[in-house]
Amino acid sequence: MAEELVLQQGHKADQYQSILPQIQAIIEDETDMIANLANICAALKQQFDWFWIGFYLVKDNELVLGPFQGPIACTRIAKGRGVCGTAWQQQQIIIVPDVDQFLGHITCSSASKSEIVLPIMSNGDCVGVLDIDSDELNQFDEVDAEYLQQLMLMIEKFI
Ligand code: SME
Repeated sequence: MAEELVLQQGHKADQYQSILPQIQAIIEDETDMIANLANICAALKQQFDWFWIGFYLVKDNELVLGPFQGPIACTRIAKGRGVCGTAWQQQQIIIVPDVDQFLGHITCSSASKSEIVLPIMSNGDCVGVLDIDSDELNQFDEVDAEYLQQLMLMIEKFI
């Protein structure tokens, strides 16, 4: 595993194309789920410097906070609640350009303005979500969804 990340400037597609193979190299020899999810958060935080990035994992029919980078966050989210609980329930990627316009958004921090949430699937079940929050409006789009979905496929191999 490389000791340092090579960080890419420029368009976010270029940034994803640079960071995703590095993440693959970091996780491919490690089987521990928490270790891998923690390093994925750290690598994405270093590359994109988003306000908050982290995982929620399904435990006893709730989403429970997992590895993350950023300020402290809500620890438990019920199915169907907030953006994360909705992505879990619908098993779909959700992009929220303005969190104030999303009915039921869970405010962990008032600094969070836009977000994207992706379900992590295993054998047809959603076993967790990746939640990324920005402190700016309209920060996520189909480019993020496309590349982060590739990341979900990497995660689904070890989760
Ligand atoms: N924004 C999420 C809650 C989690 S925090 O933002 C870290 C939601 O509404 O699901």
